[in-house]
This record gives sequence, structure tokens and C-alpha cells, in this order.
Amino acid sequence: MFAAKKGDTLCVFINGKKVTEDHADPETMLLSFLRENLRLTGTKSGCGGGGCGACTVMVSRYRPTTKTIFHYSANACLLPLCQLHGAAITTVEGIGNSKTRIHPVQERIAKAHGSQCGFCTPGMVMSMYALLRNKPWPTMEDITQALAGNLCRCTGYRPIVDGCRSFCQESSCCQSNGDEKTTETKHEKPRLFDQEEFLPLDPTQDLIFPPELILMAETANQQTLTFCGERSTWVSPASLEELVQLKIRHPTAPLVMGNTNTGPDMKFKGVLHPLIISPSRVPELFEVSLTPRGVWVGAGCSLSEVRCLLEKLLLEFPEEETELFRALIQQLGNLGSQQIRNVASLGGNVVSAYPNSDLNPVLAAGNGRVSVVSGGGRREVPLDQDFFVGFGKTLLEPEEVVVSVFIPFTRKCSTFVCPAGGSLFRALRHAPRKEPRSLPLTTGMRVCFSEGSRVVQDISIYYGGGLGPTTVSATKTCKAIVGRPWDEGTLSQAYNVLLDELVLPPSAPGGKVDFRRSLTLSLLFKFNLEVLQKLKEMNVIPDELPEKLLPLPGDIQPSLQEFQPVSDSQSVHDPVGRPMMHRSAVSHATGEAIYCDDMPRTDGELFLVLVTSSRALAKIINLDVSAAMQLPGVVDVITAKDIPGKKERAMFGYSEELLAENKIREANMYTGPSATHYRMEFSPENMLRCWEDCKVRSDYNARRRAVHQFNQHHRWKKRGLSIIPIKYGVAFAESFLNQAAALVHVYKDGSVLVSHGGTEMGQGIHTKMQQVASRELHIPSSKIYISETSTSTVPNTCPSAASFGTDANGMAVKNACETLYQRLKPIREKNPKGSWETWVRAAFFEKISLSATGYHRGPDLYMDWDKMEGQPYAYFVFGVCCSEVELDCLTGDYRTVRTDIVVDIGRSVNPSVDIGQVEGAFMQGLGLYTLEELKFSPSGLLYTRGPSQYKIPAICDVPLRLNVYLLPNSHNPHAIYSSKGIGEPVLFLGSSVFFAIKDAAAAARSESGLIGPFSLDSPATPEKACLACASPFIQKIPASEPGSFKPWALNI
Ligand SMILES: Cc1cc2nc3c(=O)[nH]c(=O)nc-3n(C[C@H](O)[C@H](O)[C@H](O)COP(=O)(O)OP(=O)(O)OC[C@H]3O[C@@H](n4cnc5c(N)ncnc54)[C@H](O)[C@@H]3O)c2cc1C
Ligand code: FES
Ligand code: FES
Repeated sequence: MFAAKKGDTLCVFINGKKVTEDHADPETMLLSFLRENLRLTGTKSGCGGGGCGACTVMVSRYRPTTKTIFHYSANACLLPLCQLHGAAITTVEGIGNSKTRIHPVQERIAKAHGSQCGFCTPGMVMSMYALLRNKPWPTMEDITQALAGNLCRCTGYRPIVDGCRSFCQESSCCQSNGDEKTTETKHEKPRLFDQEEFLPLDPTQDLIFPPELILMAETANQQTLTFCGERSTWVSPASLEELVQLKIRHPTAPLVMGNTNTGPDMKFKGVLHPLIISPSRVPELFEVSLTPRGVWVGAGCSLSEVRCLLEKLLLEFPEEETELFRALIQQLGNLGSQQIRNVASLGGNVVSAYPNSDLNPVLAAGNGRVSVVSGGGRREVPLDQDFFVGFGKTLLEPEEVVVSVFIPFTRKCSTFVCPAGGSLFRALRHAPRKEPRSLPLTTGMRVCFSEGSRVVQDISIYYGGGLGPTTVSATKTCKAIVGRPWDEGTLSQAYNVLLDELVLPPSAPGGKVDFRRSLTLSLLFKFNLEVLQKLKEMNVIPDELPEKLLPLPGDIQPSLQEFQPVSDSQSVHDPVGRPMMHRSAVSHATGEAIYCDDMPRTDGELFLVLVTSSRALAKIINLDVSAAMQLPGVVDVITAKDIPGKKERAMFGYSEELLAENKIREANMYTGPSATHYRMEFSPENMLRCWEDCKVRSDYNARRRAVHQFNQHHRWKKRGLSIIPIKYGVAFAESFLNQAAALVHVYKDGSVLVSHGGTEMGQGIHTKMQQVASRELHIPSSKIYISETSTSTVPNTCPSAASFGTDANGMAVKNACETLYQRLKPIREKNPKGSWETWVRAAFFEKISLSATGYHRGPDLYMDWDKMEGQPYAYFVFGVCCSEVELDCLTGDYRTVRTDIVVDIGRSVNPSVDIGQVEGAFMQGLGLYTLEELKFSPSGLLYTRGPSQYKIPAICDVPLRLNVYLLPNSHNPHAIYSSKGIGEPVLFLGSSVFFAIKDAAAAARSESGLIGPFSLDSPATPEKACLACASPFIQKIPASEPGSFKPWALNI
């Protein structure tokens, strides 16, 4: 019926400009509209499913009822264009640019060295910008919350946090990158950036909310809006009555609010909805009403709004009445990212009925209910075990609309008043990482006691996530507890009942079966500890209490980055050795940098897709591509046969000693002139210096004692400490790869164009080449431009790998610049007081070539590993890293509380770039060794695709203190300006976190009487860490007999 109708015209403002669409398609998301229709490519397209934050924009709306404008960040990849009628969108292009004025957020992230490849930067900028629009003086907690949904693969987050921290009111009193002890020493030490240079935040520069949209909202007619696309129609009714009628006529049409559930299904599972109903204009879905028993919250309210509301109510009502509110606030703080919470609706979360909903178990245990309306009228439905009938299914009829959700006060336990001070309510959650939603285990638990006693009157326990297709009630367990005293006897029986009640078959989807089962017990045990605490506070029990379980620490502290200052005699114009902003940082932060997929498509453009073998380790005997060629759009299939040259896979630059274990301790260290096992001679002096320095800087000995003490006082939380050295060989063992070339042109106006063979991938090689040319030509780096790498200008190019890019290309650029500078010598001598520009002009008129090539013939390395002959590396980078973690032995969650890294990279060409490489590589290593787990099905299908499954470190994984020190007084005769390559070496130092986890697990095991070696495989995910701790709950889980079932995932 709707397809026949001509749709309405959609009106949205984008960066202050009105955009109208007569044919707004319900299947079009804002992201593709921005990038493809408007060619605003600053908003990046990453995962497409709300998981990476690259597409973050700010949405602003006017609310006529309160006459207020509100702003929020959102993922453009999940925002249906049709949902945005009447909204104003701000993208990274709308807040500042390099031609007019850059916004302080853009400036600070760029100048604090918060961008490397820059792909995540526009998203980071917009998350921070949206935060500042709502809160110009944010706290660190606000900042970490705002950035929690933005992933960065390069920087390690610390510099982004530091740039953003400068907006905090408290930032001036806890500046990073300086010695905090005294003001004098602070000033003596060089800094990576100078906060005093920053532009002030000036809200008057922000785009104003379009008055036309205010007028539109104030005078909106109450008619249904319809947008008709090719395959789908969007209907947005203006009243509840109309919404109900629509649902009666189209019961299977989804109600789309935040689109965070419907959207991914449409995108990734190809679900087509011919009709989509948007209830976002129905006022009843946003109403909040307070009753003596609790609060009814409109089902359309976003999760962020629900959180704000509950936080407000906490202040207005006594503590015992708001137990459930607090539990929900805690859940909402960890649910998804800020961008998701800003759009996802309460009703959507409940009705989606996903087993891993963070809210449903809590609402169910708290006696929540929903008010639904349909053609048959209104009814209230309890959110209990009967509500969730299957995966994504509730007992609601398809035509029923949830209008509001009731969140009760906790004072009254349905039939009686709880004199012990109200029921105790807790939501406990375990997730592989704090934010994401993949397979967390969530529980809502509520208990009421008889007057003045520890006898349980009523108890309710719900689990969600990972325990089957629905939110489940542990009814039998509750029965085993009710009427009995809350003590060890009751609890130990309850664990047994729970174990029998919540059974997971060994082949359950999601895997990790033993872990998940043990978590059900561990979370009940955690609840037990809290209940005992509460009963003791109420003077109900006299018991000596076990430890109080506090959450893992979470506040990111200012950290230190120390590097050697340049000598006093170095010219102020010579940038070598000084921190210098990545030359593309401003274009990253403004969204002006163009990436491959930002370029408009050209006619006849083809796309390449990798097809992998459907069987692991299979030998390919024959390839039949005929079926593939029949597929529409397939032009060709390229196989190994079509690729000329050698096809063996080469592994460069991986030194075997990197695989050494934590057992490398002083006793085993190289001393004096040494040789590796492959007979390469070297001096370990700087490694030993790094080791000693790291021990001092990290206060290793004292902290080792403190860790021991901590572990003695805590049964369920353990700390672990590990210190790891590295010796990393730089350059290629394949001699011909150790070469590079450059081409440098000087133009008549004095500008210089440098082409070299290195590939810029964010690591800052172009910035360093600028610095080299600046030093050699004695001109400011602002006169030097870098041409994109191309074999049309530089033929002798080699891979930018093995941490050898700057070593090789830097020497080539130096060589070309030296030639040019030498050529200008007679001119300079004729006019010693002249400027660069006058010399260059004179050279032109004297017919002197202003172009030169440069070449670097690197070391002749080779290695015959069979005979152990040769020398595979030019030199070694040394480093030592000390990390400390705090591990929750009941869930395996951990937090790196501090990391100190000392690295010997000779004399750094650019400390800001090099420290960025150190931190980025460390965080990648942390991910590699503790988080990033590939899961394959028994048939070889990779499950872990995209950020919802494959977890890379997020801001919540950054060590709370991450200190980096570049070893002073180190020289390297083998590389440019005595520097050392630094791209790769530090990756392995991330393993210090792995070994610290193992150290903590060893302490936990010794409490269970398990002494001696044990294995912990990398990555040390919470699952593996928890199993390694071998808590009594883990030991309760009966082992499944291998071979008796088909596991969900391969154990690789
Ligand atoms: C990246 C990402 C991370 C996430 N992380 C978490 C997490 O950590 N924890 C967690 O619990 N959840 C998480 N989620 C899930 C998210 O919370 C839910 O998808 C969201 O709450 C659903 O609300 P919505 O408004 O977006 O629903 P929509 O996608 O708009 O709708 C979902 C479904 O609900 C129905 N519906 C919506 N409103 C009503 C109503 N009023 N009456 C009847 N039916 C209705 C629709 O018909 C539709 O079928 C995550 C989602 C994403 C994309
Ligand atoms: S592209 Fe939108 S969140 Fe990843
Ligand atoms: S992904 Fe953040 S800078 Fe590269």
C-alpha cells in the first residue's frame, strides 16, 4: 500500500547546510549518504556494524516540549537516513578545516601526536567534540567513556587521551610528560607537545542549530511521514493510535528506534523489510512517570537517557529504594559504547530479547515489567522467565507495541516490607572486554530477608548471555535457598543445584563451556560476598567477613614520556631529534586526508576479494573456477599461477630469541662482549642499561614486595608483575633488500619536493624524511614537501619493513640533499648572507641542476641458518618492559595497572613519532598476547570476524599508567643520525602483560594448593586466565569427555 504512494521529502541539515531528499531510501544509512551522495568522506567507513567508531558523527535535535537542543554522538553506519528528518548532523568537516580554522579538538589530538595512520582520528575527534558540546569541562571518566567505542590500531590511545585530557579542568594539575616531583625539573625536561600553544575552546565558533529546524519542530503537523525506497518503505506515525493501527496491519514490520539490532541484521544477514515503522515521533514512547512503586520509562528513551534519568532519581530517593536503579546504571555504563547507548532504545533492548542483553536479567530479577498496547488494548507483562521464549523472541504478540518499561523501587519485595533495609540487588557482569557485547555473562540477583534475620524470604536470580538462547531464571537454585539462612551450608548446596540447573552442552555455540559454567558459580559467589557485607552492616550477622571485593581499578593516570633533549649547540631550525607533529596529523584530524576508499569510483572499477580454502592445511590439487566465473559481476579469478615471480612466503625480521620465556632473568642475561646462538657478535651493554633503568624506573623491587603483600591480603584478586627484555635485530637478512633511493627536487621558490622509497602507513616515515631534508639543506621543514611513494620516481624500492624504513630511506634522502647542498656551495660562497631562496634562484640562472637522486647501499647481510653462517641483522634494538596487572580470579578480568618501558633506539630522529611507535607496538603486543583470539569452527570457518567478535585493545585496555623512557646516551653507528629502527621491536614487550597475568594466576593457584609449573596459552584471555587460577568453582565443573562431542570451535 505504501509503495504506491509518493513519499514525503526528507529534510536534514548537514554541517549547517539544508539537504532535502525526495527519494530517501529506508535502506540508506547516513554513512553512505555522507560519503557517496555528499562526498563528505571525512567520516570513515570501518566495520559498518557500530563496533569501531570510525563513522562517529554528532546528531543534534530540538525538543519542542522542553524547548531545548540536545546533542549526541552516533555511529553513522547504523543511522538510517530516514530517521534523521528534522535533525542536524555535524561531521568532522563541519567543525573545522585546515583552510579556515581547525577546531581545538582537532588541533589538540593532532599536536598531542594522537594520529598515526589517521583512519580512526575523525571518529575520535567527533566523539570528543560531542562530549564537549554537552560538557565543556569534562572529567577523565567522561573522556574515557566518550572514547570507549572508538578503536585505534596504531597509537595505543595514550596520546589521544593526553590531547583530550587537556580539556579537563584538572588537566593543568596533572600534566603528563614531565617529572611531577618539582616544578623546576618539569621545565627542564623536554616535552612532546606544549599545551600552552593550544587554541582555547570557544563554543561561539560552533555551528548554531538551524532555526528552520526549530520552526519545523514547533509547527510540525501531526501527519504520518512516509519515505519510499526501492525495496522498502519507511513510515513514521505521529500518534500512538496510528502506530497501533500500523502494527495491526503490518505485524511483521519492525519498529526501528536505534536500529542497532535491526540494522546489523539487514546489513550482515541480508534481512529485507519491505516496511519499516519508526515510532520516534510518538510522544507516549518517551514519557517518564513516577509512581510510589517505581518509575515507568518510555520504551523509546535511549539507553543514555535512561541512565541520566536513573542517576537523577538516585539523588532523590533513599538508597534502599534505588538498589535496582544502581544496578542498571552500572550495567548501562558498560553496555556497548556511548554512540550505541545514545541511540539504542530501552524497549529495543528488551524486545530484541538477545540472550546477551545486559538489561534483561537485571530487569527480570528486579521484577520489571512492560506496558504494551495493541488493537486489543493495553496490558502489563512481567519481565520474568516466561517473557523470554527463545532466541530473539518474547511472548509478546507481533502486533504489540511496548510503550514503557517499569523499573521498580527495591524497598518493597512484592508482598512484604523488608526490614533488613530493603532487598539487596546486584548486577554482575563479565565480558571478554569491558565494553563489547560478545558473549558476556550477566546476572541480576535480588534477595530479601525475614525481619532482623539472615533467613531468606525471597530470592531471584537471572542469567543472561552465553547460557543458552534466552535470559534464564535459576529457579531451582532460588528454591534451594529460600527459607534457609544465608550461610555457607545453604550456599554450597545452591552451587550444586545451580550447576545441575544451568547445564551447557560441551558443544554449545560460543564455546568456552567450562569457563561459562564456572562463571555462573563465581558470580553467585560474588553476590554472596556482597550480601554478607550488607548483613554485617545491618548488624544481622556477627560473622568475620571474607574480603570485600572491589572492582578492578580503572582511572587512567597521567603518564611519562622521556627522551633525550637535543644538544644546546643544535640550530633551532634543525628539527632532527625534536618532537615534530606527524605531517599529516592535521589532515587526519580534519578528515581531509584521502584514503583509497574515499576516492570516487571510476568507470569499470573492479574489486578484489580473497577466496580462502574451505579446509585448513589442505593441499590444493586442482582449482575449478568455473562456478565462480558464472556468478554475476565476476570478471576473473586470479590464482597463484597468474602471479609472476617467487611465491614462497618470506618471513623477515623475526628473531627467534623473541620467543624466549619469562624465565629470562638476570642470571641468564648476556654480559660483556657476547654472541648470539647464531654467532652474531654484539655488545649487550645497552640491554643491561635498559634492564637496570627499567628496574629503577618501575621501582621493581619495592613493587614486587607490594604485589606479594597485596596477594596475601586478597583471596580472589591477585596482582602479578613481570619484567621482560628484548633484543630485536634490524634490517633484512636478504642483502638486496637493504637498499633505498630518493629523488629530491628544489623549485625556484625554494620549496623542496622529496620522493623516497618508503611507504607511509602512519609510522611517520614522511615526517622523518622531512626532518632529514631539513637538516641537510639547512632549511625549515615547512619548505619541504613529500611526494607520495611511487616507482615512477624512485625505482630501487624495497618493502617498508623490518623496522628498516627510516634507516635506508633516510640515508638515501640525506645523500640526495648532500649532493644538492654541495652543488649550491659556490653560490653560497658568492653570497654568504643570502637566503635559501636567493641561492636557489641564482642556481637556476646559473644553469645548475636543482634535482638530485640519492642512494643508500645498505649492509651486505645474509644468513645461512642451516650452517649458522653469516650475519642476519645490522644491529639490535634493546628494550625492557615491566608490567603489573590486577586479576579478578573469579572472572579472569584483568587490568594492567602500570607499564614502564625503557627502549634503546639510539638517538631518536623524532621522539614523538618514535614514542608513538613504542606505545602503539606495545598495545598491539598486549592485544596479541592477551586478547586477540581467532576462533575457527571444526570445518575451518573463521568465527571471529569484525570488532564484535575479534577484540583488539580499546581505550579500556590501556595500562592505567604507561611510561616510556628512551634510553639516553645511546649511539648507533649503523643508521642515520645514530638512530635505530623502532617500528616492530616493542611488539613483544606486550607479552609482559601476559606474563604478569601468569604471575597473578600462579599466586591464585597457590591459594588452592597448586604449586609448580602450569601452562597458560597466549592469548591469555579472561577465559584462560580464569581457568588457570583454578578457583574452587572451576574445579567444580565436571570435565567433558574429549571425543564425546563436537566442539563449537577448534582448540588451536
Ligand atoms: C556494537 C553494538 C554493541 C552492543 N553492545 C551491547 C551490550 O554490551 N549489551 C547489550 O545489552 N546490548 C548491546 N547491544 C545491543 C543493543 O543494546 C540493542 O541492539 C538495542 O538496545 C536495541 O535497541 P534499538 O532501539 O536499537 O532497537 P532496534 O534495532 O531499533 O529494534 C530492535 C527490535 O526491537 C523491536 N522494538 C523496538 N522498539 C520496540 C517497541 N517499543 N515495541 C515493540 N518492539 C520494539 C523492533 O521491532 C526490532 O525488532 C549492542 C549493539 C551493537 C550494535
Ligand atoms: S563503521 Fe560505524 S562503527 Fe565501525
Ligand atoms: S587507527 Fe588510529 S591512528 Fe591508525
